Amino acid sequence: MEGQRTITAAAAGDVSVDECRLIRLRTVDDPRGSLTIVEADLDIPFAIERVYHLHGVPVGGSRGGHAHHRLEQVLVAVAGALDVVLDDGASRRRVRLDDPRNGLYIPPGIWREMESFSEGTVCLALASMPYDPADYERDYDDFLARRGS
Ligand code: TYD
Repeated sequence: MEGQRTITAAAAGDVSVDECRLIRLRTVDDPRGSLTIVEADLDIPFAIERVYHLHGVPVGGSRGGHAHHRLEQVLVAVAGALDVVLDDGASRRRVRLDDPRNGLYIPPGIWREMESFSEGTVCLALASMPYDPADYERDYDDFLARRGS
């Protein structure tokens, strides 16, 4: 995708929250309802290796609380709404996901918290890598130290 940084550059620890962005997903509307499409390398800037979804989160509940070393991700609130707090060690942004036509792209090296889930929220996660516990940074102080913050 044009203007997209490479994973190598992002993983080096200089990624900014400004590189997280909403992607407007292609949607076909007709009288029967709407159909939203995600194609790897076309609608989002990586090949999808894994898909999971978060559901049954209590109203007002939280998830996340980690960064990834190499993983790229797109989050879609396919139902309901949640806030994603993005943190690069220097700046924070809060993004409300409440539209199934929007995907939130998160590059590697960004700390994320998922908060304020509404009733019945289903959050789809599209990931660039298989699950790997070693790719997680789960200690915020270690994250800040790695970022030089
Ligand atoms: P975790 O990544 O901590 O969830 P979140 O950050 O959304 O709160 O994962 C919760 C549990 O699920 C943890 O035991 C690891 C497991 N898990 C997998 O086995 N495979 C996966 O693809 C993911 C994302 C999590």
